[in-house]
Amino acid sequence: MATIREVAPDIFRISCLIPAFGMQFNEYLIRDEEPALFHTGFRSTFSEVRDALATLIEPARLRWVGFSHFESDECGALNEWLALAPNAQAFCSVVAARVNLGDFAIREARGMTTGETLVTGRHRLRFEQTPHVPHSWDAGLLFDETTRTLFSSDLFTMRGGDETLPPAEIVERASGHLAHGMEGPMAYSTPYTALTEATFKRLGELQPQRIAPMHAPVLEGDGSRALGQLWECLKKLWAARL
Ligand SMILES: [Fe+2]
Ligand SMILES: [Fe+2]
Repeated sequence: MATIREVAPDIFRISCLIPAFGMQFNEYLIRDEEPALFHTGFRSTFSEVRDALATLIEPARLRWVGFSHFESDECGALNEWLALAPNAQAFCSVVAARVNLGDFAIREARGMTTGETLVTGRHRLRFEQTPHVPHSWDAGLLFDETTRTLFSSDLFTMRGGDETLPPAEIVERASGHLAHGMEGPMAYSTPYTALTEATFKRLGELQPQRIAPMHAPVLEGDGSRALGQLWECLKKLWAARL
């Protein structure tokens, strides 16, 4: 069953722990005049997430449904949400909109570039294109300027979902997960490119006070520091292979 937690004023995390993956899958609702959902969850968890969201707002009122990159957990249930909420529009990077949603989505999406904002009422959501961070050409991340919350998608992914972990421990476990992810048939989920350092620095310059990942508990505190530590780990892992 999905659990709900208010991680910042009017920002709610809807979380499903899926045993087959051994990790949590988090969607975030920004409850505002124009309610926005970041990440849709899988099609298979749609009804669970919808029922959880319905305890917070009337789901048909959703105005925006966004995601980081085109994968089943990030946007698999997009069309289910669009069908449920007639005024909802998808938002994602301009790459995801052109490459995938033009064919996949039942309505036209809003393709965004770095620095574009969505003002949902009290919240001002800034989009950042982040190609290949955490992965995929179409990747982008969302930053709520109002609460200084960075929605980091697959960055900081770790196994389990212990809510009591301090930020340093989450970074350590996420680093361990990256290291583990360099081996085996599912290896190399998080690449390192000529853009990676600049992308992490750009995210750090936003000075997040909170990082809200898709597959890890929320990190409170110095987001720039946590991003820097994760980048250092990724750089070392790849340097050893080049
Ligand atoms: Fe992903
Ligand atoms: Fe994900």
